[in-house]
Amino acid sequence: MNAAIRAVVRTAVYYEREVVGVIRGFQGLIDNEFEPLDSRSVKNILNLGGTFLKSARSDAFRTKEGRELAYHNCKKADLDGLVVIGGNGSFTGAHLFTKEFGLPVIGIPGTIDNDLYGTDFTLGYDSATNVVTECVDKIRDTASSHNRLFFVEVMGRDTGFIALRTAVATGALDVILPEANRTMEELLSEIARGFANRKTSNIVLVAEGNRLGNTFEIAERVKDHYPFIDAKVTILGHLQRGGSPSCFDRVLASKLGVAAVEALFDGKTDVMCGVVNNEVTFTFLQKAIQNQVPLNMDLLRISKILSI
Ligand code: F6P
Repeated sequence: MNAAIRAVVRTAVYYEREVVGVIRGFQGLIDNEFEPLDSRSVKNILNLGGTFLKSARSDAFRTKEGRELAYHNCKKADLDGLVVIGGNGSFTGAHLFTKEFGLPVIGIPGTIDNDLYGTDFTLGYDSATNVVTECVDKIRDTASSHNRLFFVEVMGRDTGFIALRTAVATGALDVILPEANRTMEELLSEIARGFANRKTSNIVLVAEGNRLGNTFEIAERVKDHYPFIDAKVTILGHLQRGGSPSCFDRVLASKLGVAAVEALFDGKTDVMCGVVNNEVTFTFLQKAIQNQVPLNMDLLRISKILSI
């Protein structure tokens, strides 16, 4: 997000426009927390995780009164348009806001889940999957030294993009996704296959939003069925959302930051800028949130073939 903010600020300055940062997102609009920014305000943040403008989940912005107050503050600050970086929740608010008050809004996709329609990649997804890959590689050392089975839970509230990509990258035995209706019987037979094939370490990637259940309970059920298996659970949690962004994410954020500001100048609104087949594209915010993003079934097939 910092890399995207830097790109937005510098592009606006390049085109000789004024920029203000809004502290804590929509809540900052309501609380009138604006901070004038210039090109030096965003120095040395390209390599930092998180957002120096801070972020917040705003219940007040879900109400009409909250949004009215936010609009009033935008007018007072003489804002001509907003760039909103975020995922489903942020874009739902951004769409409502521009529909109700007409202030132009451009969205930049920022979520590690990669679950927005209209872009091949969202900001943070590549960095998060690199963190997961590094962590699973480390877990693999214990798994192989002790002949253990590890269930590694990764983020992905509704989608399994992080789990699937990292399953391939780490050579996981199996992956449990929200999108694929994996049964306990199937999981048990995959695990039996791993041991029958003389695998000495087994990793199963579990997306937090999977439908089979809680990761600890899944591990318990496996242990009940195969008491000889030493099964462990690791939950990577918010580790995945921190750290220095990858080169890929920095370049993506830079591209999208420039595109978002130029889109505002072109009179675009209510759209998200994304990258499809390496080209910048624009998708209506509502479509970006509502349209299903299909899982890459070929990657699932590849994961299965390579896990024998
Ligand atoms: O939406 C992105 C995400 O990282 C999900 O994968 C995860 O479930 C959620 O955010 C965690 O949110 P919070 O930090 O508010 O607990």
